[in-house]
Amino acid sequence: MKISVLSLFPDILKAFFEDSIMKRAVDKGLVEYELVDIRDFATDRHHKCDDEIYGGGAGMLMLPGPLGRALEASGVRPRSDGSATMGRGEKEVVTTDSADAPRTILLTPSGRLLNQALARDLSAEKHLVLVCGRYEGVDQRIVDRYVDDEVSIGDYVLSSGEVAALVLVDVVYRLVPGVIKGESLAEESFSSHAGEDPGKSGDVGPTLLEYPQYTRPADYDNLKVPDVLTSGHHAKIIRWRLKEQLRKTLAYRPELLAKGGLPKVALDLLKEITIEGGDI
Ligand code: 6GU
Repeated sequence: MKISVLSLFPDILKAFFEDSIMKRAVDKGLVEYELVDIRDFATDRHHKCDDEIYGGGAGMLMLPGPLGRALEASGVRPRSDGSATMGRGEKEVVTTDSADAPRTILLTPSGRLLNQALARDLSAEKHLVLVCGRYEGVDQRIVDRYVDDEVSIGDYVLSSGEVAALVLVDVVYRLVPGVIKGESLAEESFSSHAGEDPGKSGDVGPTLLEYPQYTRPADYDNLKVPDVLTSGHHAKIIRWRLKEQLRKTLAYRPELLAKGGLPKVALDLLKEITIEGGDI
């Protein structure tokens, strides 16, 4: 997968791509990236990239000229009919764009909410082009001509789209085959399903938050690892982990359980949890 990130502050992004698991993915040839400084595409002496908003209002908007040229330099073509798509990610809207065309995403608090399902969808793309919004955002004509999807990372406001772009890159690239071992992915929050054999995929039941995990020493400053985990009793461990997943999900994200679809074993465990009392 190739990832192009267009930004007015590319230095903020640089360290992320040059370190850790991302560096390994790049070195292995699984991920290729380019950081594009939008300011390089300004044509005036001062490299101006923003201006006041027509119709009034606080703040500045990113100019369409430099951003449009930066997008085209990254291989993004203007939509042939110039029409807005309002979310190519909905798939059925796709018509004439070629399969090899990059998927262009604007990071903005007014976009669709990022979740694991959207991340999986994006991880199958050959080329993602991410636009980091700054100031009050970008000129709508850029969105209409070049952007396939607008994505937000949560219901709060960040001062820089760069931070949001890094979140998006992080959730997406680790799903690219070969970047992270399959078993690690299958067991984490938002990937495994209630009562499901970890590692086996298929949509049964709601997603649950991950169970607590422990490593050596078994006694840390008089705090002990739960006995069941050192018992070697596999079936009991599976059951304990599912129960802890349910306990945690009930405490922090009860709306995930309200979707229904829990297998009987999970419903029985939930009953146990409520009988045991509310000190979750
Ligand atoms: Cl994508 N950008 C900004 N500026 N704020 C956000 C966001 C994005 N997602 C949530 N808040």
